[in-house]
Amino acid sequence: MAVIPVELAGRSYEVRVDDGLLADLPTQCGALLRKKSVPIITDSNVAGQWRDTIDASLTGGGFEPRWLVLDPGESAKSWTNLERTVDWLLAEEVERGDHVMALGGGVIGDLTGFACAILKRGCGFIQLPTSLLAQVDSSVGGKTAINTAAGKNLVGAFHQPSLVLADLGALDTLPLRELRAGFAEVIKYGVLGDRDFFNWCAANGAAVIEGNRQAREYAVAQSVAAKARIVAEDERETTGTRALLNLGHTFGHALEAETGFGSRLLHGEAVALGMVLAARYSARRGLMSDADAATVTEAVSKAGLPSEIAALDMGGDGMKLADHMRHDKKMDAGTLPFLLLRGIGQAFMAMDVALDDVAAFLDDQLQAH
Ligand code: GLY
Repeated sequence: MAVIPVELAGRSYEVRVDDGLLADLPTQCGALLRKKSVPIITDSNVAGQWRDTIDASLTGGGFEPRWLVLDPGESAKSWTNLERTVDWLLAEEVERGDHVMALGGGVIGDLTGFACAILKRGCGFIQLPTSLLAQVDSSVGGKTAINTAAGKNLVGAFHQPSLVLADLGALDTLPLRELRAGFAEVIKYGVLGDRDFFNWCAANGAAVIEGNRQAREYAVAQSVAAKARIVAEDERETTGTRALLNLGHTFGHALEAETGFGSRLLHGEAVALGMVLAARYSARRGLMSDADAATVTEAVSKAGLPSEIAALDMGGDGMKLADHMRHDKKMDAGTLPFLLLRGIGQAFMAMDVALDDVAAFLDDQLQAH
């Protein structure tokens, strides 16, 4: 088992990465479970895979699992479900010192975390992430949120979990496309801050995706360790360090918006393309070599992820894409703070990126290849 501490004054917790954790909850959670009744929030897809295992694990330890099963999908992160979840937790008589389990991907983790942040001004929760993306990113670091009509993740809170159990066995049941999309966030840690880990990802991506046990543990544990370091340094994203985790997200968000935030382009796929675009745009500005930008593109493409926006067949032009960035709340007088690269492993926040220049670059990209 890999155990990664997330060091935060007064609120430190562990992320444990191993097989079989979901079948071993009484031991893993120990004193965090202080009552017989254990509230678990999940979606119907994940319940279909894991409910029996978790029921057996908890009842075997003398506990009584209590389930709230929501519909799957991004639309679950809604005001309606937040109200439903909070009302359910109140009906279950959850108290501030209790722990609620969030079993699932990022949607369930974000919604449950936010409900726990506001229930009685904050109760405990345990993240049980079942997707690769949730294991390496969203379950760690305490960002919780729902979506509103105005946009994604606009209402939320920082609320750290008390424990994260990343069961590698959960990855075995993920659809291949989702696994690959999660791997984009793994590569991201290498591209933003660790060239050796990037090289490892480029060489071992196929092993991770095909199910090699050791490769999966290494990929998840290294990613979590990278995120834990960043979160410990800048928990509330105030110094710029945590913002580095958004590498690829400005381009990626524009692509997701243009393709309708749906199955046409998954979030991880948009991040993969966004990283390639950030690398190429950095090379165009003379910040990094064309060879490094090509190396990032090759690693993304070898992992089975999209690396050319022309292949998305979106139509439109660079300005249409850049327009999705125009309403970013960080925009200032025609420029947008933008994560760029001085090399692989050397991301930084550029403050002088003009949207017109980004639009011209995107025009080239839409026509190329
Ligand atoms: N997913 C980005 C962050 O946690 O800051």
